[in-house]
Amino acid sequence: MKLQVFLSAFLACSSAVVASPIENLFKHRAIKVYHSKGINSTLPIWNGSNVSNATYANSTNSTTNTTSSDNSQLQVIVTGGQVPITNSSLTHTNYTRLYNSSSALNITQLYNVARVVNETIQDKSSSGAVVVTNAKSLEALSFFFSIVFDTEKPIVVTQDSSYAIPVANDKKAAKRGVLSVTSDKLVYSGVFTPASACSYGAGLPVAIVDDQEEVKWFFDASKPTLVSSSSVIRKEYSNFTSPFGLLENGVPIVPIVYDGGYSTSLIESLSSAVQGLVVVSSGSTNSTSSTIESTEIPVVYAQANTPLNFIDNKDVPKNAVGAGYLSPIKAQILLSIAAVNGVTSKSALETIFP
Ligand SMILES: *[C@@H]1O[C@H](CO)[C@@H](O)[C@H](O)[C@H]1NC(C)=O
Ligand SMILES: *[C@@H]1O[C@H](CO)[C@@H](O)[C@H](O)[C@H]1NC(C)=O
Ligand SMILES: *[C@@H]1O[C@H](CO)[C@@H](O)[C@H](O)[C@H]1NC(C)=O
Ligand SMILES: *[C@@H]1O[C@H](CO)[C@@H](O)[C@H](O)[C@H]1NC(C)=O
Ligand SMILES: *[C@@H]1O[C@H](CO)[C@@H](O)[C@H](O)[C@H]1NC(C)=O
Ligand SMILES: *[C@@H]1O[C@H](CO)[C@@H](O)[C@H](O)[C@H]1NC(C)=O
Ligand SMILES: *[C@@H]1O[C@H](CO)[C@@H](O)[C@H](O)[C@H]1NC(C)=O
Ligand SMILES: *[C@@H]1O[C@H](CO)[C@@H](O)[C@H](O)[C@H]1NC(C)=O
Ligand SMILES: *[C@@H]1O[C@H](CO)[C@@H](O)[C@H](O)[C@H]1NC(C)=O
Ligand SMILES: *[C@@H]1O[C@H](CO)[C@@H](O)[C@H](O)[C@H]1NC(C)=O
Ligand SMILES: *[C@@H]1O[C@H](CO)[C@@H](O)[C@H](O)[C@H]1NC(C)=O
Ligand SMILES: *[C@@H]1O[C@H](CO)[C@@H](O)[C@H](O)[C@H]1NC(C)=O
Repeated sequence: MKLQVFLSAFLACSSAVVASPIENLFKHRAIKVYHSKGINSTLPIWNGSNVSNATYANSTNSTTNTTSSDNSQLQVIVTGGQVPITNSSLTHTNYTRLYNSSSALNITQLYNVARVVNETIQDKSSSGAVVVTNAKSLEALSFFFSIVFDTEKPIVVTQDSSYAIPVANDKKAAKRGVLSVTSDKLVYSGVFTPASACSYGAGLPVAIVDDQEEVKWFFDASKPTLVSSSSVIRKEYSNFTSPFGLLENGVPIVPIVYDGGYSTSLIESLSSAVQGLVVVSSGSTNSTSSTIESTEIPVVYAQANTPLNFIDNKDVPKNAVGAGYLSPIKAQILLSIAAVNGVTSKSALETIFP
C-alpha cells in the first residue's frame, strides 16, 4: 500500500466517532427552544407527480431485468451520496430526491425520510425501496430504518445506488429486515452496519455483490434478534414503528459525549437541556466509577472501539444503561426513538437495549 493511501485511511479512521466534551453542549444552551412539538417538514408532499423515471447503471446491462415478473416498481430515494444517472432508459426504476446533504442527517431528517420511504413501500405497486445517502449517515439511517420499519419488502440503504439496486431486486432480499450496502459491495443487516469503512468488527456482512451485479447471499433469510418478531421492541413497543410520538413528545436532543470526570451539578444542569445522553465509554469495559449519570434523563454508555465490545448494565454507573453491542451512533438513534415515544425509564430501556 502506498504511504499516501495508508495515511489518508488512517486519518479517516481516527475521526470515526462524532462526540464532544460535555462543556461544548453549553455553547448551544438555547437549543431546547427548538425542541419543537410536531414535526414541521419543509419537504414537498410526496405524491408521485414529482418523480422521474431516471435510469441507472450505464456501466452494465445486468440491471435491465430489475423488475420482477409482476412489473412492480423499485423506488429510489436520494438524500445524498452517489447517484449515477444517465438519460438512457434502462430500468423500471423510479427516482426521487429529498436532500442533497453531505453532513449527517439529524433525527428530524431521519423521520422525514422515513415518512417518504413509508409511503413508497405502502404502495402496492412498489417492490421495495433504495435509499441513497452520504457516508456519514449510512450507519444512522440504516439502523433507524431497522427499528422503525417492520416490513417484508426490501429496504436497502446505500452510498451508491448502483450496488444497491441489484440487492433490492433480489428475491432473497425479503424477510431480512433493512439492509445496507457499503461502497465495498458488502451487504449488511441494517442493525449491524459498520460505524465507518474502517470498523469491520461492527457486524458480519450477509452478502456480497459480484462484478456481474449478482448478489451472493452468505446466509438464509432471517432478521436480527434485536428486531425479530419475538423481540421486545416488536412485541412491546409497536409504537416505535409509527412517527406519532413526535406530536406528543417532539424531536429529542440526544448528544454523544466523551466520558470524563464531571461534577454532578454540571450533569444536572445539562439534564434540563437534553432528553438523553450517550456516553462513549472510555478505555476498558468497566465504567462503573464514571461520574456521568442522572436520575432525570436516560444515560446510555456505548463503546466506540473495534473489535466489538459488549457494555453490560453491570459495567456502567447505577443510574445508567449499557448499550450492549450497539455503537454510540446506534445507541443515540435507539435512545432518540425511545424518547420520541415517551419511553425514558431505566427499566424499560434496559429491556430495549441488547
Ligand atoms: C409549521 O409551519 C407552519 C407553516 O409554515 C407554521 O405556521 C407553524 O407555526 C409551524 N409550526 C411549528 C411547530 O413550527
Ligand atoms: C402533487 O404535488 C404537486 C406539487 O407538490 C401538486 O401540484 C399536486 O397538486 C399534487 N397532487 C396531488 C394529487 O396531491
Ligand atoms: C418537485 O418539483 C418541484 C417543481 O418542479 C420542485 O420545485 C421540487 O423541488 C421538486 N421536489 C423534489 C423532492 O424533487
Ligand atoms: C419516462 O421516460 C420516457 C422515455 O424517456 C418518457 O417518455 C416518459 O415521459 C417518462 N416518464 C416520466 C414519468 O417521466
Ligand atoms: C413512478 O412511481 C409513481 C408512483 O408509484 C408512478 O405513478 C409512476 O408511474 C412511476 N413512473 C414510472 C416511469 O413508472
Ligand atoms: C450488454 O452486455 C452485452 C455483453 O457484455 C453487450 O454486448 C451489450 O452491448 C450490452 N448492452 C447494453 C445496452 O449495454
Ligand atoms: C432478462 O430476462 C429475460 C427473460 O426473463 C432473459 O431472456 C434475459 O436473458 C434477461 N437479460 C439479462 C441481461 O439478464
Ligand atoms: C456511460 O458511461 C461512460 C463512462 O462512464 C460514458 O463515457 C458514457 O457516455 C455513458 N453512456 C451514457 C449513455 O450515458
Ligand atoms: C435538523 O437539520 C435541519 C437542517 O439542517 C434543521 O433545520 C433542523 O433544525 C435540525 N433539527 C434538529 C432536531 O437538530
Ligand atoms: C407507515 O404507514 C403506516 C400506514 O399508514 C403506518 O401505520 C405506520 O405507522 C407508518 N410508519 C412509519 C415509520 O411512518
Ligand atoms: C468495576 O470496577 C469497580 C471498581 O474498580 C469494581 O468494584 C467492580 O467490581 C467492577 N465491575 C465489573 C463488572 O468488573
Ligand atoms: C409506546 O409504547 C410503550 C410500551 O407499550 C408505552 O410505555 C409508551 O407510553 C408508548 N408511547 C406512546 C407515545 O404512546
